[in-house]
Order: sequence, then C-alpha cells, then structure tokens
Amino acid sequence: MAVADSLSNNTADANHEMNPSDTFPMIDTIIEQYRDTGGALIPVLQSTQNLLGYLPKESLQYISRALKIPYSEVTGVVTFYSFFSTVPRGKHVIRVCLGTACYVRGGKDVLETFSRELGIKVGETSEDRQFSLEIGRCFGACGLAPVVMIDEDVHQRVKPTKIRELLVPYRNGEES
Ligand code: FES
Repeated sequence: MAVADSLSNNTADANHEMNPSDTFPMIDTIIEQYRDTGGALIPVLQSTQNLLGYLPKESLQYISRALKIPYSEVTGVVTFYSFFSTVPRGKHVIRVCLGTACYVRGGKDVLETFSRELGIKVGETSEDRQFSLEIGRCFGACGLAPVVMIDEDVHQRVKPTKIRELLVPYRNGEES
C-alpha cells in the first residue's frame, strides 16, 4: 500500500506533549497545501500524524471542520488504515509480522516474547514511551520468516531467545 509506505511512524516524538490546539495553525498550513486537490483527507491526516506523532481527537475534529467532512467519516478513515494511530506511539515502533509464513515459523512466539520483554500488549506503548508494539501482515520477506520491523529496520529469522539482544541498541539509543 503506497500510502502506508510513505508514512514515517514517529517523526515527532518531541511534539507528543504539545497541546493539540497549539498545533491548529500548523494543521492549517498542511490543509492549505491540499485544499484544492481531490482526496485531501488522507494526505492531511498523514502529514498531521507526521507532525504530532499521532492523531489526537481534537486534531481530527479540527480537520473535520476545516475540510467540511463529517467527523464520522474522518474517524472511519483513521480506523480503516492501521498506520494511523489515535494514541501516542513510542520512540520505536515494533511490528511483528503475523502473515502466514511468519505465523507458521513462530511469529506468535516472537510476538509474545516482545510483549513479555517490554511489558506491553499489542497496540500499547511502554510507560517510558520508548516502544510501541504492533502486528504486521507480511512485509514481503516471507522466505526469511519470522520477520520483525523496528522502525525502518527489517530483522529476519528472529528467534525469541535473541529478542533481548535485538533490543539493546534501541534501548541504548545506538540504533542506526
Ligand atoms: S508473512 Fe511475514 S514477511 Fe511475509
């Protein structure tokens, strides 16, 4: 999905603490860029999420009013596309593939091990805001299953016993 590929998961960690209303002028600037193009909603949502790191309710309401699109339609789009998030994400987003090839090669064990190691469930973010845990559906590397993406890094043939080691550079801020 091209639109998903264009998303960066967490470009605005520093903005997680911003008051959503403080960002309305920035959202106005984004909307101005797309106002005259058809299908402005998705690019506006993408850019807003890139700006804030997630899509707070207040921002969705503001976008709904500004684009004159019913709020239910805006939230419907946000719910439909898994790359949109209405809760703040961690600095690092871990996506464990549970596509068929990864599932049969132990993806579920990998997911459970990440969950135990980080103390969070799927869809949650660790208290220190370092990690969010999500499920992926095939990253196109099935021959190297099970596959995990951490931010933009692809990790192949991931073994549960190696997960603690895998997380070390991210925990230490030494990731590439
Ligand atoms: S099923 Fe996991 S990469 Fe394809």
